Amino acid sequence: METRSITAEDYLKAIDEFTLYNGYASLSEIAHLLGTARQSAYDEIKILVQRGLVERKARGEYVLTENGKLEANLFLRKHRIAEILLWKSLSLPWETIDDEAMGIEHGITETIAEAVCKKYGCKFCPHGNPIPDVNGRVEEIIDISFSSLKPDRNYRISRVIFENSTILKYLGSRSLLPGHEISTDHNGEIYIPSNGNERIPETVARAMTYLISDE
Ligand code: FE2
Ligand code: FE2
Repeated sequence: METRSITAEDYLKAIDEFTLYNGYASLSEIAHLLGTARQSAYDEIKILVQRGLVERKARGEYVLTENGKLEANLFLRKHRIAEILLWKSLSLPWETIDDEAMGIEHGITETIAEAVCKKYGCKFCPHGNPIPDVNGRVEEIIDISFSSLKPDRNYRISRVIFENSTILKYLGSRSLLPGHEISTDHNGEIYIPSNGNERIPETVARAMTYLISDE
């Protein structure tokens, strides 16, 4: 990735995403994701804690406060709309647009956002995540986490809650996009009926949420 400065918004987005995946964001994971030193991440997060946007749960473990979530949502609106633009308008590969959006998301004005929404619709990002409105409000999605799936059932992928590039590459190379049918075996492991019943690794399975498929 090209070098660019990391903003407070990048930290809020990273904490939001890790919290959805793990229940909290760890300092080392945030630093690793943003490609920065642990000390720099620590200093920046300390400022966000002082601003009332981030809360320290335990040593090295952070979550967003209600105000932090609102700030993150305002930024996620730009980020997810940038993803739609790169995917629908420029046809960049699905698995690359989360990374590529980082290069342009800060420049997405509300005028651009509205134009993208008008042309392509903007209920969800290409990974299935809801796009907050201009006030940072977001519609809650009722879907199921990996740990709540039952054995021997059919489901559809709802969204990729953890848009990690390795995970997106795995899913993209198998065309496992939101809406794709998957099933669970008698052990609760996920497999892909359309791909020779290939089993999905748990790290990938946990990065998604699911909808019950019609019988
Ligand atoms: Fe993304
Ligand atoms: Fe996305």
